[in-house]
Amino acid sequence: MKKKVTKAVFPVAGLGTRFLPATKSIPKEIMTLVDRPLIQYAIDEARAAGIKEFIFVTSRGKNALEDYFDHAPQLEQELRKKGKTELLESLKMTNMESGAIAYVRQHKAMGLGHAVWCARNMISNEPFAVILPDDVIAAEKPCLQQMVEAYAENGGNMVAAMEVPEDKASAYGILDPGEKNGPLVSVNGMVEKPAPGTQPSNFAVIGRYILTPNILKNLNKIKSGAGGEVQLTDAIARQIGTDDPVRGYLFDGKRYDCGSKSGFLQATVAFGLAREDLREDLDHYLKELYAGAAAAT
Ligand code: G1P
Repeated sequence: MKKKVTKAVFPVAGLGTRFLPATKSIPKEIMTLVDRPLIQYAIDEARAAGIKEFIFVTSRGKNALEDYFDHAPQLEQELRKKGKTELLESLKMTNMESGAIAYVRQHKAMGLGHAVWCARNMISNEPFAVILPDDVIAAEKPCLQQMVEAYAENGGNMVAAMEVPEDKASAYGILDPGEKNGPLVSVNGMVEKPAPGTQPSNFAVIGRYILTPNILKNLNKIKSGAGGEVQLTDAIARQIGTDDPVRGYLFDGKRYDCGSKSGFLQATVAFGLAREDLREDLDHYLKELYAGAAAAT
């Protein structure tokens, strides 16, 4: 039996400069997709996968994240007094059992690998998940749950993967894929942000990982890589060919890059259309908008 994955690391220390000026005073993970902050989607996905301990790697200016997952007695009391039970109910997803959530600071912006390494003492000697909240994945069965199930059968290290257009490959960790077996792909190599035209394939790593403690040991050893940062990809790549190997997991679902403005807007429309209470209005508006644009040309 493989050890159950019950811990997840959420690297949330990034400055979010792509969303300035908004991110001058709010963490990008608090930015709202319909009516929930991005981080809520990540937490919901982790919970669905059986995660019980949530480790946030934060930085200066991220206090809003801690407040979000805290009780808000005054607000709750006010809603109760006014009989707003539905709203009160909606706050439940933000509640965490005391001790289930922990925050550790990344004191210097030294990359994703370094951020995960900052959580090493809380992970200790267990397999763990990493979720990048920028990557929002709409799926019937949440992506991390798909991966946890595959991990229970296969063990090893697992990275979510999908095909990306050739001209976008240099923005990702890219796999050199081997044999394919259902959703699993064996990995012969991995490279972080390859120079355009040098990528070994167009299979990109997406922000969901299940990793073994060996990755933490590797993070101790590696030097900075692409962009002068300590790369998680490089630490994972060191496990290739060992008896604790690396596999890509071609998940079922649609991924939105909410780290980019265009991806965030696409997710907003898609998630809005997926909501029963908003679908009709939004759909009507979009049709009108397109009809107007077509008439004007
Ligand atoms: C990170 C990882 C990269 C991965 C990507 C997925 O890059 O380093 O390997 O492909 O997330 O979103 P970032 O987007 O933080 O530059």
